[in-house]
Amino acid sequence: MQAANTLKTAARQSNILYGAATSPRILSADADFSSEVVAQCDVLVPENELKWESVEPQPGVFDFSQGDWLLDFCTKNGMALRGHCLVWHKQLPAWAGSVTTAAQAEDQLAGHIRGLVSHYAGRLHSWDVVNEALNPSDGRSDGLRNTVWLNALGPDYIDLAYRTAAEADPEAVLVYNEYGLEAGTSDGNARRASLLKLVGGMKRRGTPIHALGLQSHLSADGFSASKLSNFLKQVQDLGLKIFITELDIADQKFPANIAIRDTDVADLYRQYLKTVLANSAVTTVLTWGLSDRYTWLSSTAPRADGLSVRPLPFSSNLLPKTARDAIIEAFAAAEPR
Ligand code: XIL
Repeated sequence: MQAANTLKTAARQSNILYGAATSPRILSADADFSSEVVAQCDVLVPENELKWESVEPQPGVFDFSQGDWLLDFCTKNGMALRGHCLVWHKQLPAWAGSVTTAAQAEDQLAGHIRGLVSHYAGRLHSWDVVNEALNPSDGRSDGLRNTVWLNALGPDYIDLAYRTAAEADPEAVLVYNEYGLEAGTSDGNARRASLLKLVGGMKRRGTPIHALGLQSHLSADGFSASKLSNFLKQVQDLGLKIFITELDIADQKFPANIAIRDTDVADLYRQYLKTVLANSAVTTVLTWGLSDRYTWLSSTAPRADGLSVRPLPFSSNLLPKTARDAIIEAFAAAEPR
């Protein structure tokens, strides 16, 4: 087999779908970046444009313009599009969740999900239905995060969200998306245990859920390969697919020297992908951005020394980094799905 020199072709050789998060604003303003996205990716996800505050700024008033632009871009360039995300505690408009009765909360939540999912029915790779519903440090025995939806509707809000999405698009692949599931820490242990209880319960009740999204925002803190492997096996045994949805590596705590830093980042990409791709349920891998030119980590995880962050496979000049090589190697080494 010929060695692949793009991320998507390397992934394809193992029947893996590779892609990245980006935004219509960037793609329409930056032709060089846009070409690289098309060259490297088989799937995109909007970084912000399908979040509640963007897409339903006023009750029942939907603005699909950005999502539609991106879907059109994907279709023209032979790429799939993921939906992100229907229910989250962040990036909510002020009106959402400000309710006095459970019935109002249910109307808001179901109306939002119905509006979005029916608009894109049959046209997306998958939907992140509920995002980040776990927060063990909130102190609940089920590990659920205290959110407006939990307060108004109790834990049933999660099943409600998935059932509503499935009604609006019976063919949609419905994903639960979460962070911190790879950490070897006590928080990681608690997250994995709560996740298995949550998803196990959904499966027993017949709630439509088809895949787990592992965000995979990594850093020099690393991850526990053994705990992650065992956990993924349990997720697979529940009958779920597994998507790596938001992979990137904050380089805050890596050395300043660029060659060393890039090698450290590449090594972590290699180890992480080797671990997750050993599980054949992992079929899709997206990085949260493609090039260091555009990354949320510039503002959320800047370096103390003021140097630019280098978390992604391509440099800010759109040159391939050792991280790109490491990802290609990991795809090439994976057993075909
Ligand atoms: C982030 C975006 O990258 C930022 O541009 C935005 O300001 C905040 O949200 N987990 C998720 C993503 O599920 O939606 C988040 O995206 C990153 C963490």
